[in-house]
Amino acid sequence: MPDLTIIVPTYNERDNVAVLVDRLAAALDGLDWSALFVDDNSPDGTAEAVDAIAKHNPRVACLKRIGRRGLSSAVIEGMQQTTAPYLAVMDADLQHDETVLPKMLDALKQGGTELVAASRYMAGGGMEGWPKVRRMISRTATGLTNLVLKSTPRLTDPMSGFFMIRREVFEEVGPKLSGTGFKILLDFFLSANRPLVFQEVPFTFRPRHMGESKLDVRVSLELVELLAERTVGRIVPVKFILFTAVGAIGVGVHLGVLGIAIEGFALAFNIAQILAIWVAMTSNFFLNNIVTFRDSPLVGGAALLKGLLSFYVACSLGAVVNFAVAAFVFDMLALWALAGFTGAVAGAVWNYATTSAFTWKRHKQ
Ligand code: GDD
Ligand code: MN
Repeated sequence: MPDLTIIVPTYNERDNVAVLVDRLAAALDGLDWSALFVDDNSPDGTAEAVDAIAKHNPRVACLKRIGRRGLSSAVIEGMQQTTAPYLAVMDADLQHDETVLPKMLDALKQGGTELVAASRYMAGGGMEGWPKVRRMISRTATGLTNLVLKSTPRLTDPMSGFFMIRREVFEEVGPKLSGTGFKILLDFFLSANRPLVFQEVPFTFRPRHMGESKLDVRVSLELVELLAERTVGRIVPVKFILFTAVGAIGVGVHLGVLGIAIEGFALAFNIAQILAIWVAMTSNFFLNNIVTFRDSPLVGGAALLKGLLSFYVACSLGAVVNFAVAAFVFDMLALWALAGFTGAVAGAVWNYATTSAFTWKRHKQ
């Protein structure tokens, strides 16, 4: 059983893994360490690259996940597979300075400290080659996060993806982790029901070695979701808020198109209603793909087109429900806005139920 296991989440990091293993070997010389890569079935063959190393290097192994994505959830699953008393989390792209690892391990071994986080924002730390704007965004996000995070004293870099813990911390907090998004360190602090005893060590965040970053709008939304889950989420489930928000935007689009078609183009109510249903359906598809179902989104032209068509099919009965309810209300009251609104709400309930199972295949998750 190794003393220290480094969990390395990977997605399309084929050209980084061998260099990382070499650097770990150099930095951890004399220590009893192992590295567990957790790969989400990367199309570039990252898992094969790790397996090729594992064949002749018993310190290295790869855990493969199929049909799932996510940095934090990968780290959690990796930790579950380990038995080492000390666990580190580190990116595969060489941005995290591996020479800091022995210092982190020493700090934990001295006793008392449960977690050591590597920080870009304390004296001695930094970011190599970051433009001013990116520094500002990162600082602002850090400030906002610290508002939610009430740990005292404050973490200087709660968004860091580079840290080490005692295994007992994982055993205690692991079952409560949210697993949403990129911010696994933050997740530990937000999910522990008590202040964790931590230390910070400075490091310089290096430029990515090979490949591309996976941080995008979706991942940023996940940070907002993680923070929401641990604040307002205690009262109302965040998924419910998201569904309602997307639904509300869909109803807004529907009524907008309906209004323009009737008031602007003098279309008959039923024709305008069909047009509004089609536009709202299309915009809801794209919105749901990036917001509601961002944990299993459809990507690429072919998948999107197929998804859109299946979304139309899945929504067709909802559209009929929408149309029928609206026509009924319009017949009775002759108020286009009220009729359109009632129809859209009736259709939306049906649509969520069918598309979540059909278009995004949630049951496979
Ligand atoms: N298994 C798995 N699944 N791994 C993933 C996934 C995923 O869906 N997405 C990203 N990773 C892996 C990457 O392959 C990489 O090894 C690591 O997670 C970090 O991803 P990057 O795409 O390089 O993220 P970044 O450099 O923009 O952000 C990193 O640094 C920030 C600052 O410290 C992350 O560690 C952030 O959490 C951190 O805030
Ligand atoms: Mn990176």
